[in-house]
Amino acid sequence: MTDDSLSSHLHELDLSPDPAFTAQANGTAEMYDEAAADHEGFWARQARERVTWAKDFDTTLDWSEAPFAKWFVGGELNVAYNCVDRHVEAGNGDRVAIHFEGEQGDTRTITYADLQREVSKAANALASLGVSTGDRVAVYMPMIPETVFTMLACARLGAPHSVIFGGFSAEALHTRIADAEAKVVVTTDGQWRRGKPAPLKAAVDAAIHHGDDASPVEKVLVVKRTDTEVEWDDERDVWWHDLVEGQPDTHEAAPVDSEHPLFILYTSGTTGKPKGIFHTTGGYLTQAAYTNAVVHDLHPETDVYWCTADVGWVTGHSYIVYGPLANGATQVLYEGTPDSPHQGRWWEIVEKYKVSILYTAPTAIRTFMKWGTDIPAKYDMSSIRVLGSVGEPINPEAWLWYRKHVGGDRAPIVDTWWQTETGAIMISPLPGVTTLEPGSAQRPIPGISAEILDDDGNPFTEAEKVGYLVLTKPWPSMLRGIWGDPERYKETYWSRFGPKYYFAGDGAKYDEKGNIWLLGRVDDVMNVSGHRLSTAEIESALVSHPSVAEAAVVGAADETTGQAVCAFVILRGGATDHGEETVQELRNHVAKEIGPIAKPRQVMIVQELPKTRSGKIMRRLLKDVAENREVGDVTTLADSSVMNLIKQGMSSGSD
Ligand code: PRX
Repeated sequence: MTDDSLSSHLHELDLSPDPAFTAQANGTAEMYDEAAADHEGFWARQARERVTWAKDFDTTLDWSEAPFAKWFVGGELNVAYNCVDRHVEAGNGDRVAIHFEGEQGDTRTITYADLQREVSKAANALASLGVSTGDRVAVYMPMIPETVFTMLACARLGAPHSVIFGGFSAEALHTRIADAEAKVVVTTDGQWRRGKPAPLKAAVDAAIHHGDDASPVEKVLVVKRTDTEVEWDDERDVWWHDLVEGQPDTHEAAPVDSEHPLFILYTSGTTGKPKGIFHTTGGYLTQAAYTNAVVHDLHPETDVYWCTADVGWVTGHSYIVYGPLANGATQVLYEGTPDSPHQGRWWEIVEKYKVSILYTAPTAIRTFMKWGTDIPAKYDMSSIRVLGSVGEPINPEAWLWYRKHVGGDRAPIVDTWWQTETGAIMISPLPGVTTLEPGSAQRPIPGISAEILDDDGNPFTEAEKVGYLVLTKPWPSMLRGIWGDPERYKETYWSRFGPKYYFAGDGAKYDEKGNIWLLGRVDDVMNVSGHRLSTAEIESALVSHPSVAEAAVVGAADETTGQAVCAFVILRGGATDHGEETVQELRNHVAKEIGPIAKPRQVMIVQELPKTRSGKIMRRLLKDVAENREVGDVTTLADSSVMNLIKQGMSSGSD
């Protein structure tokens, strides 16, 4: 679609809420006023209505040690009890919690009563391995039910988990295990990827035997998934089927303090060292449950919900495990990739389970656009009633495609902005309430306050002026810090615009109607297929290769993945004899150091990098090159001829 036909198409659409939808929607227009009139009262009500407390809280918010928040102070609860047991106690034990769809076509149906037994067994098993409250458990697993059981078992024991995405390398796994000092790792022999088994435990072994460092890991619990051959340490390794299956299927879920740590999740920052974002119990669960109810409009008795994210990312934590299960949802859990064994796999799943709420990422939608409309057209997707998008800005064209070819031109789309740090959705339309605006996340949900600031830190409301997104009031599911590094927490989020504003790191603007448009990161963080990667982390992976002297990495616009990794590399000794082989070797080196998701699309061997007089690399200029644009202002360069040299002498390689 050309820009002209896109905008005329947009004008013809009526995107105001359908009254029939509004009549049954969980979110209401009044919620905005209620929350604005009494911020803490609003959240206290959400906490008491959506969560079952073993002991009620006495103070809603303690902000006296800002920016370290305490929510629902004095309250006690158990997250696993909230996500599992209470549904069984309420008589919903027979309701399906998880429709599991394996990549190979194997399926499992897990009711809430089954889930209670499985989580109890897993909790007993972890306890038998010495895990007790406060101990950290690393989880390095594919999208299978045991992963959910493990996370809930950790929550049941009050042992914070650190889930590490299965696409990360042994090296990345090592750093994360060491930083959190994880005592136990739960993993699988392998994972299914496009019909083939890929090893997983091998990376755990390598992460534990890393250099001369003593590992904190005492036990490794291994689920057999692919029958992949594994090396075995009799002292340390335990098969899930040997240990867990024999455990008693009841377990008492002990309540913990509202501020007890629930999990650590590593995410990329602007330096090479990933940040262990940590979340606590009562506030996190409250906002995860509330947003899943009002933004996804989940009705647990009738909906079949499907969030396609991987549990290794925050979306999987909040919108596969904690939010939907706290609400008693029936959901689909799919192990594989969208094109395995054919490009209609997702739509086949939608048809099969009558999925009514689908939550996915723009990068997936753009991939489906490329594959063609005839693929979704083959399936009956009339069950769909709400669509969600997360992870990066969704361009209006992809939005319209999603609405038409997946949502039957009828389902509202919620474009949800949030971050690992925010724990749950922050900016989004409410279906049934908001008149939608394709491409915009629109406005903060009830209970959340945001502003856009200019360079001097002043809020403004003019349309089309670009500024920085900040959050202006504490919220229940906010991060409580960076694991082991309180200073970095203050510095990263609460210093750019002073202690009053949480700096999100995103550029934003308002449109004429007052909608917020998110414009991408303003720091050295890239967003590739909705995955967050730091330029610094990839640069340090590149310079760890013996032939690399210097490296600069930028995120360049990419039609499918949003951004793509482009690396500029100077070889040692200024070598210019750099065949395709070197380029491939460097790309593979990054995949090995961080994981395949970080593999550069392009590696360009150059002899110089553009630097200011103080030696700072001007990535903005490299981005111009990577995006095939006229190179911008070069006057601050120490040597202004460098850019010409780069453009002339560049050789590049990619898949
Ligand atoms: O830049 C924003 C982008 O993703 C970043 C957060 O990444 P992560 O912590 O990995 O969490 C992703 C899933 C919540 C944000 O700083 N982002 C996320 N959602 C949107 C978005 N950008 C625009 N629109 C969105 N809906």
